[in-house]
Amino acid sequence: MNGFSLFATVGAFLLLSACTSGEKCCEAPAKKAIYNPNGDSELALLMRDMFDEGMRVREAVSEGKRPLPNWDADAIFTAHATQPEKVATPEFKAYAQSFLEAAKAMEDASPEAYRQSYQGMVKTCVACHRSMSRPHRQDQ
Ligand code: HEC
Repeated sequence: MNGFSLFATVGAFLLLSACTSGEKCCEAPAKKAIYNPNGDSELALLMRDMFDEGMRVREAVSEGKRPLPNWDADAIFTAHATQPEKVATPEFKAYAQSFLEAAKAMEDASPEAYRQSYQGMVKTCVACHRSMSRPHRQDQ
């Protein structure tokens, strides 16, 4: 399978389910198979970190806490990628920028808006992945 279409679903794992606390929710366990089989580029390692950290934050948010992600997000601009030509585009930079802004917005979010700001941040992971996986996936 193509690595880029494989990771297109990554962000979906991080989204919080819509159910409120108190309700019993079933959630799909995170799969290990999302990782790029093609190697361990700097960017891939950063992304794995961001995924693990995202899972930790997601857990805490779902418990009503207000954790801040602890990751080196700025490195997204400089980390060497498996397919450097894919990230050397204005489109990639624009997605990276909106991700950084969404992560920053979490710092400023009120306790009530925190959950939503987290979801908004995850959506920027998903948006970039979708753009990267074109033309392999245009179905979503
Ligand atoms: C600006 C674009 C962009 C954003 C934003 C982004 N990613 Fe990625 N992601 C990529 C690219 C490009 C790769 C492929 C990296 C490589 O192979 O060098 C990748 C790969 C991955 C991988 C697979 C790593 C591996 O083992 O190969 C995971 C997991 C991942 N991203 C998670 C996330 C999470 C979680 C977020 C948000 C918190 C996120 N990404 C935000 C572009 C992005």
